[in-house]
Amino acid sequence: MGYYIVQGGKKIEGDFAVRGSKNAALPILAACLLAEDEVVLENCPLIQDVFLTIEILRELGCTVTLSEESRSLIIDSRNLSETTICSETVQRMRSSILFLGALLGREKKAVLGHPGGCCIGKRPIDLHLCAFEKMGVVIREKDGILDCEVPHILGYHLYLDFPSVGATENILLLAAKAEGVTVIHNAAREPEVVALARFLRACGAEIYGEGTSNIMIEGVTHLHGAYFSIPADRIEGGTFLCAAALTKGELRTKGLEREQMEAVLSAMEQTGCRFLWEKGDTLWMRPPKILRSGFSITTGPFPYFPTDMQPLMMSLLTLANGTCMMSETVFEARFSQADGLCRMGADICVSGQTATIRGVEKLHGAEVYGKDLRCGAALLVAALAAEGESRIHGSAFVERGYEKIEDAFSLLGGNVRLEA
Ligand code: EPZ
Repeated sequence: MGYYIVQGGKKIEGDFAVRGSKNAALPILAACLLAEDEVVLENCPLIQDVFLTIEILRELGCTVTLSEESRSLIIDSRNLSETTICSETVQRMRSSILFLGALLGREKKAVLGHPGGCCIGKRPIDLHLCAFEKMGVVIREKDGILDCEVPHILGYHLYLDFPSVGATENILLLAAKAEGVTVIHNAAREPEVVALARFLRACGAEIYGEGTSNIMIEGVTHLHGAYFSIPADRIEGGTFLCAAALTKGELRTKGLEREQMEAVLSAMEQTGCRFLWEKGDTLWMRPPKILRSGFSITTGPFPYFPTDMQPLMMSLLTLANGTCMMSETVFEARFSQADGLCRMGADICVSGQTATIRGVEKLHGAEVYGKDLRCGAALLVAALAAEGESRIHGSAFVERGYEKIEDAFSLLGGNVRLEA
C-alpha cells in the first residue's frame, strides 16, 4: 500500500473548488439501475470508490462511459444481465449494500455478500433487512451471502430505530418502485439522502419530505433517465478548511452549500476561525493567530456535527491553546487517528467514546498509519502543520474518498507527494 511524504510547516491557502460528494455519488450510481434509459451525471468525483462502483455496474451488464476531463458519467442499464454481486466486491466497499435496494427495485431479486464491519465499527445492516422484510422481501442468508427476492414490493410505514443513512437510502431505492405508499419515520436527514431523493425524483419517482425525519414515497411503475449534477462534498470541504486553519492559511472554497456546513463552521468558529459567505457558494475562511479551546464537540446524525469530520476536527484541535473534548456517538471505534496524532506530538487521551485533546505548542513529523479513509486524511492534515517530514501509510484508504489529495494540497502551498 502506498504512502504520502509530507514536508510540513507550509500554509495551505488560496482557492479550492470542492469536488463532487462521494457519499452522494455512490447511492446515485446504484440508483441508475432503476432508470429505464440513459442517465447523465455531472460533477462526478474521480475517486476509487466511484471507480469500483462503476466496475460493479459494468459487471451487472450496464454500459458506463466516464469522461474524466468533463467529470461526467453516462450510465445505461437497459442491458442489465446480472443480479449477483460477488461478496469480495461487497467486502471491499460497504456502500455496495445499496445495490440491494436498487436490484430488488429493478429485477425483484438480488444476491450479494453481507458487507460485514470495518475498523470504525461493526456496521450491521439489520435496519436495512428488517425494513425490506416488511416490504415483502424474502431474505435467505447462508454463509454470509444474502439471497433476496420480492414477488411484490409492498409500500409500508417504517420506523427506523436509528436514522441510518444507508438504511434510509436503501429503502428509498426499493420504495420508489413499490406498489403503494411507503413512509420512513426517523429517516436520516443527511444532504446525501436529499441528493438521492432529488435524483430519483428527476427520474420520475414520487418522493416527499427528504431532509426531514419523515419521508413519503409513492411507488411508480417506471423510472426514466435523467441529467443530474452531483452536489459538492461537504466532508472534503471541511477537510480542506481544517487543513488551512491548522496551517494558518486563508482559504476560499467554491461549491459548498451553506445549510450543509452549519455544524462544522460553528465548531471551527469556536477555535477562532472566521467565515464569510460570498456570492452563494463561495466561502472565505480566515484562521486565528492562536486556535482557541475550552469547548466540546459531539458527533450525531445530521444536522449535528458529522462523524466523518470528527477525525479532521481532532487534528485541528491538537494545536489549540488548551483542552477540548470530543464525543463520538455514531460509530463505536472511530478514534483510530489518535495514535498517529500522538506520535506526531499531540496530547490526546481516549476513554471509550470520548477523547480529551490537550493542545500542544507544535507537532513534529513522524511515520504513521492511516487505518481508514478519514483517519488517513486526519493524519495527512496534521502532517501539513507538523515540523519536518512525515510519512502517512494507507494512501489507498484516502484515495477511496479524496481525488488526488496530494496534488490538491500541493496546489494550495503544501509539500505533499504520493509514493505508490
Ligand atoms: C454513511 O455510512 C456514510 N457512508 C459514512 O461515511 C457516514 O459516516 C455514515 O453514513 C454516517 O453519516 C456512505 O454514505 C457511503 P449509517 P452508513 O447507516 O450508511 C448503525 C465516510 O467516511 N446501523 O448511518 O453505513 C451503524 O452501525 C463514511 O465517508 C445499525 O445499527 O452509516 C452506525 O453505528 C464512513 N444498523 C450508525 O448506525 C443498520 O442497519 C450509522 O450508520 C445500519 C446502521
